[in-house]
Parts: sequence; structure tokens; C-alpha cells
Amino acid sequence: MSNILIETKNLTKRYGTFTAVDGLNLAVRAGEIYGFLGPNGSGKTTTIRMLTGLLDATEGEAFICGYNIASQASQAKSLLAYVPDQPKVYGKLSAREFLALIGALYRIPKEIAQERAEQLLDLFGLSERADDLLEGYSHGMRQKVVIAAALLHRPRVILLDEPTVGLDPASARLLKDVLQQMAAQGAAVFVSTHILEIAERMCRRVGILKNGRLIAEGSTDELRQLTGSQGESLEDIFLELTGTSETLEIIKSFEEGDV
Ligand SMILES: Nc1ncnc2c1ncn2[C@@H]1O[C@H](COP(=O)(O)OP(=O)(O)OP(=O)(O)O)[C@@H](O)[C@H]1O
Ligand SMILES: [Mg+2]
Repeated sequence: MSNILIETKNLTKRYGTFTAVDGLNLAVRAGEIYGFLGPNGSGKTTTIRMLTGLLDATEGEAFICGYNIASQASQAKSLLAYVPDQPKVYGKLSAREFLALIGALYRIPKEIAQERAEQLLDLFGLSERADDLLEGYSHGMRQKVVIAAALLHRPRVILLDEPTVGLDPASARLLKDVLQQMAAQGAAVFVSTHILEIAERMCRRVGILKNGRLIAEGSTDELRQLTGSQGESLEDIFLELTGTSETLEIIKSFEEGDV
């Protein structure tokens, strides 16, 4: 049996004549944390939304645990969790009520859902505020509730879109530990981020997207070999591969008064 839990085949999204995601072929295995990098507007969110089934592909296919996200949506969706870039919650519910609702949506037996919810609230330091309405939560607190909700049904695949934005250092570290634990237990983790240090420390493999195309993929060591640059940071490699290092050169010479 294949242990590929996330797969895309020629996945493409067009808006009119503009191609946001261009023939993407990806495979992420059980136990793997895959970092999805790329400049603003390169197609990361669009890809993740297609993987969740929230956005239809124009061409190509996406599979979650072997289930086609378009034609076998309910099986695929029951196995995945999605943490969007903007934490959306029902403001008129408390954190506890929100988690109970998510538990019911995923048909988790009530007692089990309750027990897991309490564990997650405790883990994310939200227990004391768990009966407060979510509309009164800070951005980071909401983000933690959304992450807790994503973990509630023990997904085999978790897709996270810039999850550390708004999290304090301790919470970002906690998230990293939780994701590593999930991967160790056989889940596939797919995470977009602009924080290259996170990608470097957490991800076994990274893919770099530019203009909707995967321009490089591999471990950071492999990417180093690709750019022929021993000892360079992932940031240097990223800037080199995405062509943004030229922009930085221009800025530098501008600052130095050469332009
Ligand atoms: N509904 C839409 N209609 C038209 N164009 C869109 C739509 N949604 C996204 N795009 C375009 O698709 C491209 C990719 O957007 P996307 O949000 O996937 O980028 P991203 O890599 O997530 O960027 P960021 O790092 O800023 O989050 C952008 O050029 C964007 O303007
Ligand atoms: Mg995005």
C-alpha cells in the first residue's frame, strides 16, 4: 500500500487568463512535514484551498489518503484538517462550545470529544478563558482555537496556511512540537510559511513555488547543492531561487548611492 497521503497531479487553477497554480505535481508521505514556500502571490493559499476541496481546480487532481478531493470529497475531507491563514470562528460561541460543535460535525462521540477538547484547551493555555465568547479573543488566541479544532478529530493529513502568524514564541514552539508529534504518529503535515527558519528546522522537505510553479523541491541540503552554495542559509537559497536576490542587490546599490 502506498503511504502517500497528499498527492497532486497537474493541479492547476486559472482565473480568466491568469494562471495562479500551474501544473503542480506533489507527493507527501505519512510521517513527513512538508514546507511550502514562495513569494507573496505565488499560489500557496490557492493550492492549499484546492487540497481542502474549498476551491475547485481548473485542471488536474488532488488526493487525500488516496481519495479524490473532488469526486470522493466526504471520505477525503473526513481525513484532513485545515488551518486557514485567517482564523475564522463563530464569535457568539465560547471556545468550549466551538470545539463541541466541531466534535459533533466530525461525529466524534460526545464524551471523547469533550475529553480531547479539554486536553487541547489545556495544551494551548486556553482553559481559563474557555467559556468566554470568541469575539472577545485576541488574534493569537483565535488562531490557537482554530488549531485545537483542527486537531480534535485526529486528522491523518493537516494543511496549515502560515499558522505561526500571530502566535507568540512559546505558542509557535508548541505548534511545532505538536506537528512533529503528529508526523511521528504517521500523519502528513503540509505547512506554508514565510518564516524560513521554521521551514528549515521543522520540515524534512520543502517545495518552493514561484508564479504558480514548483521551481525547487528537496531537503535544505539538496537545495543547497542545487544552488551550488555550501554553507548558505535557506533564506539565501530562497532569494536566489525566486530571483528576489536581484531586487535586494538593486536596493543595496540604491542605499549605497550607486543608482
Ligand atoms: N479569486 C481570485 N481571483 C483572481 N485572482 C486570484 C484570486 N485568488 C487568488 N488570485 C491570484 O492568485 C495568485 C496566487 O494567490 P495566493 O493567495 O495563492 O498566493 P500566496 O502564495 O498564498 O501569497 P501570500 O504569500 O501573499 O499569502 C495571486 O496573484 C492572486 O492575486
Ligand atoms: Mg497565502
